[in-house]
Amino acid sequence: MSVFYVLLAFVYVCRGQSDTVPCPKVLAINITGGTTDRNNSITKDGIVFEKNNYFVSNKTTFGCVCNIMPCIRKCCRAEQKMVNRRCGPRNNASMSFLIYDGIVATNITPYYEHFHLVYSKKCKRTKALINPYKDLRDTFYVQANGTLFLPHFTRKLRRPEEYCIEVFDVAGYEMKDVLSVILCLSDADLVTPPVHRLICTGRFYDV
Ligand SMILES: *[C@@H]1O[C@H](CO)[C@@H](O)[C@H](O)[C@H]1NC(C)=O
Ligand SMILES: *[C@@H]1O[C@H](CO)[C@@H](O)[C@H](O)[C@H]1NC(C)=O
Ligand SMILES: *[C@@H]1O[C@H](CO)[C@@H](O)[C@H](O)[C@H]1NC(C)=O
Ligand SMILES: *[C@@H]1O[C@H](CO)[C@@H](O)[C@H](O)[C@H]1NC(C)=O
Ligand SMILES: *[C@@H]1O[C@H](CO)[C@@H](O)[C@H](O)[C@H]1NC(C)=O
Repeated sequence: MSVFYVLLAFVYVCRGQSDTVPCPKVLAINITGGTTDRNNSITKDGIVFEKNNYFVSNKTTFGCVCNIMPCIRKCCRAEQKMVNRRCGPRNNASMSFLIYDGIVATNITPYYEHFHLVYSKKCKRTKALINPYKDLRDTFYVQANGTLFLPHFTRKLRRPEEYCIEVFDVAGYEMKDVLSVILCLSDADLVTPPVHRLICTGRFYDV
């Protein structure tokens, strides 16, 4: 009986994934208008997207750039930063950070030449802002492959679709033009430390 339900759950999960696109939609960039080659690959801005690295949705062609090169998400557009709960003008706030191997800084620099930046802060579910300047448990390290390493979290590695990095100007959290990340939270996160701490302190973004 219970085995039956486990099997049913399996079928459900697998079917849910079978007709998905070659990458999370939040990591796909608009490559509409790119050049299609004879072998059906599309070249856009010097990046070649083979057939298995793009998909068409709603008349727009989306390229899975993160399948091709290391990428990270920047929460807001290039000329913007987070101002409280929204993206706003960056003014003169500069954005820079080191790339780590574990917790050891590498000499890979600058980040914007190493990573392709995807501008998006979309999460499937809840999101939370962490603040390493206020709580050392929020310390994070961006890895060369675009993974975020959170040594003090239960789930220590986050894929590019699970977080975005940005300059934050958030009065309520005493963040003035500092670099931090918004985490996309999973069900597991919500019940494991230190994420429940984020909830207790109300550090949530609702957009
Ligand atoms: C995708 O890019 C094309 C060409 O630049 C543009 O016309 C279109 O509006 C874009 N679509 C979306 C959904 O951003
Ligand atoms: C398809 O064409 C592009 C551009 O000419 C090339 O870079 C790529 O390697 C080709 N892919 C295959 C699978 O032949
Ligand atoms: C499809 O694209 C149009 C025009 O870009 C947009 O208004 C509409 O919301 C899109 N629909 C979906 C489901 O994304
Ligand atoms: C940005 O920098 C320029 C030149 O350094 C300065 O004139 C301007 O007032 C600054 N803007 C803001 C919003 O701080
Ligand atoms: C990315 O790099 C980290 C270590 O820097 C590693 O633990 C992780 O498995 C890598 N992830 C992928 C998807 O390669």
